Amino acid sequence: MKAVVYKGPNEVQVEQVEDPKIEATTDVIVRVTTTAICGSDLHMYEGRTVAEPGIVFGHENMGVVEEIGPGVTSLQKGDRVVMPFNVACGFCRNCLAGKTGFCLTVNPGFAGGAYGYVGMGPYKGGQAEYLRVPFADFNCLKLPPGREHEDDFAMLADIFPTGYHATELAGVAPGDTVAVFGGGPVGLMAAYSSILRGASQVFVADKVPDRLRVAEEIGATPIDFTKGSAAEQIVDSTGGGVDRGIDAVGYQATVPEGEEQPSVVLNDLVEAVRPTGSLGVVGLYVPKDPGGPTEDARNGRLLISVGKFFEKGLRMATGQTNVKAYNRQLRDLIIAGRAEPSFVVSQRRPLDEAPDAYARFDRREPGYTKVVLKP
Ligand SMILES: NC(=O)c1ccc[n+]([C@@H]2O[C@H](COP(=O)([O-])OP(=O)(O)OC[C@H]3O[C@@H](n4cnc5c(N)ncnc54)[C@H](O)[C@@H]3O)[C@@H](O)[C@H]2O)c1
Ligand SMILES: [Zn+2]
Ligand SMILES: [Zn+2]
Repeated sequence: MKAVVYKGPNEVQVEQVEDPKIEATTDVIVRVTTTAICGSDLHMYEGRTVAEPGIVFGHENMGVVEEIGPGVTSLQKGDRVVMPFNVACGFCRNCLAGKTGFCLTVNPGFAGGAYGYVGMGPYKGGQAEYLRVPFADFNCLKLPPGREHEDDFAMLADIFPTGYHATELAGVAPGDTVAVFGGGPVGLMAAYSSILRGASQVFVADKVPDRLRVAEEIGATPIDFTKGSAAEQIVDSTGGGVDRGIDAVGYQATVPEGEEQPSVVLNDLVEAVRPTGSLGVVGLYVPKDPGGPTEDARNGRLLISVGKFFEKGLRMATGQTNVKAYNRQLRDLIIAGRAEPSFVVSQRRPLDEAPDAYARFDRREPGYTKVVLKP
């Protein structure tokens, strides 16, 4: 089959690789119909993780069940399904508690597994024609048959639940004011989820005009951080800061001039959130960043204004999304016509065009907010 393979910094290729097979009785093989490129893939693509060449990328996958292991009970050939980016067992203590992003079974020695991601276990990615799904009864979310809502449902693999998770981590409640840093797909989903949860005002800070425009279209207030400190702009227009702050940027955050400064968003949030407010951090931070600007940054240690954080009595929650905690409910919002997360999808390309799509998405070119590939 064809698959998107990481060749080294800033290079992916579509290559012939071995077809996946049923390896355990609880596996299924899915024929991939839609698979998305994620900002998380870009950290690997840019050589900013310890990823080695040869990885098949792709953790945002949906498709149709093609082959079924003898131990699978709830799925049938032909079922249309979407898979959380997390690979999880369903029976370890973290899975039982709903923390499927921290499964203790699927990636021994580490809490959490994913498809096509460095350090997240042996699971091949789904930017390919077929995907092996382990513990399939647990990891497949069934969808209505047909082609309807294809791109909406594809967003259930990661970014819609991740945006929602950010609001859960921050504790967004009806009437709250919310500042989302990052207007990428995850930030836009966090803003959208904040609105679904009844926020009274939502700011989205970024510098990419295209992304700020999409934020405005869904009813958020765009903040261009090249036109003065984003935190100051937010504090000024709320008379003292927002109730909730969301980091949808992570360690590759930049200052307005474009230079990377890994702690800039966390420190902006400490400034932008009012005393006793709370922060939800879904932007990625890594314990090892080979390209970090300082020795500390290369070891995942950042300088954060803990003094201000404490003085203001803030709370912060972080981590990978437990997609299973939200995907069924968000699917049902899509089916009911109450959510349409595909508004972020700006490019639909065949799998063969992945190298070009990666390069353009990586440059945050206009029109490259979210790319889905159709194998
Ligand atoms: N926690 C999870 O489970 C999870 C899941 C998916 C993605 N992520 C992470 O979420 C982050 C965002 O993902 P994405 O796909 O939207 O990525 P993206 O790279 O497309 O978006 C990031 C955006 O942040 C903006 N930005 C950079 N510096 C900024 C600053 N100082 N202030 C405000 N905005 C700034 C960029 O211009 C860009 O538009 C990534 O770090 C990704 O790895 C985490
Ligand atoms: Zn993703
Ligand atoms: Zn588990």
